[in-house]
Amino acid sequence: MAKSVKAAVIGAGVAGLVAARELRKEGHKVTVFEKSSKIGGTWVYDPRIESDPISIDPNREIVHSSLYLSLRTNLPRDLMGFSDYPFSVRENGDPRNYPGHEEFLLFLNDFVRNFEITELIRFNSEVVGVERVGSGYGGWSVEFKNKSGSFETEIFEAVLICNGHQTIPILANPPGMEKWKGKQIHSHNYRVPKPFLDQIVVVIGDGPSGMDISKEIATEAKEVHLSSRSPNTTKISKLEGHDNLIISQIECVDDERGIVLFKDGSSVHHNIIFHCTWYKFDFPFLRTNGIVTVDDNRVGPLYKHVFAPEFGPSLSFLALPTRVGTIFGLVK
Ligand SMILES: Cc1cc2nc3c(=O)[nH]c(=O)nc-3n(C[C@H](O)[C@H](O)[C@H](O)COP(=O)(O)OP(=O)(O)OC[C@H]3O[C@@H](n4cnc5c(N)ncnc54)[C@H](O)[C@@H]3O)c2cc1C
Ligand SMILES: *[C@@H]1O[C@H](CO)[C@@H](O)[C@H](O)[C@H]1NC(C)=O
Ligand SMILES: *[C@@H]1O[C@H](CO)[C@@H](O)[C@H](O)[C@H]1NC(C)=O
Repeated sequence: MAKSVKAAVIGAGVAGLVAARELRKEGHKVTVFEKSSKIGGTWVYDPRIESDPISIDPNREIVHSSLYLSLRTNLPRDLMGFSDYPFSVRENGDPRNYPGHEEFLLFLNDFVRNFEITELIRFNSEVVGVERVGSGYGGWSVEFKNKSGSFETEIFEAVLICNGHQTIPILANPPGMEKWKGKQIHSHNYRVPKPFLDQIVVVIGDGPSGMDISKEIATEAKEVHLSSRSPNTTKISKLEGHDNLIISQIECVDDERGIVLFKDGSSVHHNIIFHCTWYKFDFPFLRTNGIVTVDDNRVGPLYKHVFAPEFGPSLSFLALPTRVGTIFGLVK
């Protein structure tokens, strides 16, 4: 067995929980810092939304999870369990192959109980600074705000960054958008369709959230225009079973006339622009003097999208490659 190391894991979402379990199995001494009072990260549904619906006000209080109330998993159960702890159907649970989000949080809580991970976690402890101390593989000073709101610092030999990557919005920026003074929202701040009653909504982004949310808003809204970047999606101009959901490609936003113009020449007087344009990486606590940088959602340089070569195995980033399915990528 390798030398036992004192390791700090930042975040008790899926990535942090798996990391904590695996590190302890190898004989390391693990502390997990979690800023909230619960495990599960993204999977802890939070009915609150941020004060700024597009999350750019620096003074807003940040809400971590981007889940909306009706969300079901978009991967089948088989791809969301762990190799030795599958996401099986529970007694009296949601038996669907793509269950509701609550079911996955229950599964994560079972995982934590089963492998006795809770004892490793310091809840209500937000990491605010991670900085190198010493030379060679040296160590890391981790500064955090403790339960009573005071700042404390502790030295670790390794730091694993598992703070999640789906909280800080990327906004769509079609021509004219900078002048648009009307309503906007990003999917991070979407929970239920009711507020869109009788509205004309222009949704930008046809990824999983864009498609899913458009169909849901269409149950309340007067019209939903889903703007896709891929010309192929626009070939189906109306989505089956949703007469008021129109698929098109946005050309520009005209603030003066209060309309959005589409590539096919049509236009619409809309009430709100809805960004479904994903999230950006953010490591506000990390101070590496430019040795690891984040540029347009690329963190680098990293070995295998995990380890920063400059720091050997002492600094790692978990769950960065999102296209493979985060959980699947972590454990397989
Ligand atoms: C709408 C939506 C739907 C999704 N659906 C699926 C799906 O169906 N299937 C699937 O496999 N994946 C899905 N995902 C991907 C999802 O990101 C992963 O399932 C998984 O939750 C990622 O886990 P994580 O541990 O990397 O991050 P998170 O779950 O975000 O956890 C990060 C944790 O770190 C904590 N934290 C953050 N900063 C600090 C700090 N400074 N100090 C201390 N703690 C901190 C947070 O409080 C949080 O608990 C979805 C994502 C979204 C946004
Ligand atoms: C938080 O840190 C302060 C200052 O170091 C300390 O006095 C206090 O006991 C700590 N609180 C907890 C809950 O650890
Ligand atoms: C769009 O459709 C054409 C013809 O069916 C196909 O050749 C092309 O690969 C598709 N493009 C995308 C981005 O899916």
